[in-house]
Amino acid sequence: MADKRKIIMDVDTGSDDAVALMMAMLDPRIDLLGVTTVNGNLEVKLTTENTLRMVEFMGRQDSVKVYRGADLPLVSTLLPNTEQSMHPIPMREEKVPAGLHHATHIPTPSFTIKEQPESAAVWLIKTLLASEDGEITLVPVGPLTNIAIAMRADPRIIPKIREIIIMGGGTEGNITPCAEYNVWVDPEAMEIVLQSGCPITLCSLDSTHAGYLTKQDAEEIRAIGTPKAAMAADLILKYGAGGDLSHEGAEVQRIPIHDALAVCSVVYPQVLKVKECNCHTDISKGFGYGQTMMDRREGQYEPHNCRFGVGADRELFRSWIIDLLTADRDSSR
Ligand code: RIB
Ligand code: CA
Repeated sequence: MADKRKIIMDVDTGSDDAVALMMAMLDPRIDLLGVTTVNGNLEVKLTTENTLRMVEFMGRQDSVKVYRGADLPLVSTLLPNTEQSMHPIPMREEKVPAGLHHATHIPTPSFTIKEQPESAAVWLIKTLLASEDGEITLVPVGPLTNIAIAMRADPRIIPKIREIIIMGGGTEGNITPCAEYNVWVDPEAMEIVLQSGCPITLCSLDSTHAGYLTKQDAEEIRAIGTPKAAMAADLILKYGAGGDLSHEGAEVQRIPIHDALAVCSVVYPQVLKVKECNCHTDISKGFGYGQTMMDRREGQYEPHNCRFGVGADRELFRSWIIDLLTADRDSSR
């Protein structure tokens, strides 16, 4: 087998993060070096606990260590009474009661393992500095706070990063009409990463809404018949229970398992349809705060700084999940 792809995931585990973690730990082409956690879907204590639960559930506690990260965004909560500073976020409360998308405690059979003593940013810097240039891929699927902190604290890590595959952004919004949740929680962190010069792929809402799953897909996954398959199906339906504000009224409920699609693109880059472009984050405190602004103008006004997801191959994504869980079942027979 060709060399495994070395990745570090940064997560705010949540239901779709949990599916992403499962797939990263199942795919034999991925070497998951470790996981850092961040405040986002839930407070960082809970996102860390849920991450530990998933690592233990997958039986990978000996090789996959978990490092707790930032409990607040860089600056977006400093002003009182901002939407970001009230957690759970009132907008979510109004439209999707907190906890509906994401269980505060993912119901795994056991929870005994502990987080590592080092903080996320410290471990990220040490691990990247000890690696070769372009050796490690970062896959952040929550707010970008930890990545931005590490970059500002020690810019020497930037040439060490092969690629950053971000679940975030989009030409459409979910938490606001124009902002995607991960970016919206910490817009300044996203802009720091976008300006870093690292190769960036945005697994955006445009991609995750095209690469959706359905309740029928979840039941097909459950029919694989293993506890892992049942867990994946439950997590998909849990995320679906919260609905997806951008797809109200669709003929079949479309469940975007956002974070798992980002991991899929590590081994199948073709799963994302992308457009090379320049992109900035709206960090002004207006209606567009947290929006990712893709420059669609022809010609090159600014250097291209990312591959912006504009679509996805739903069938490839779906079969990737089914194939990995089926192979796992068959390997244990
Ligand atoms: O907007 C989708 C993103 O927000 C996903 O990463 C989900 O887990 C939440 O963090
Ligand atoms: Ca997430």
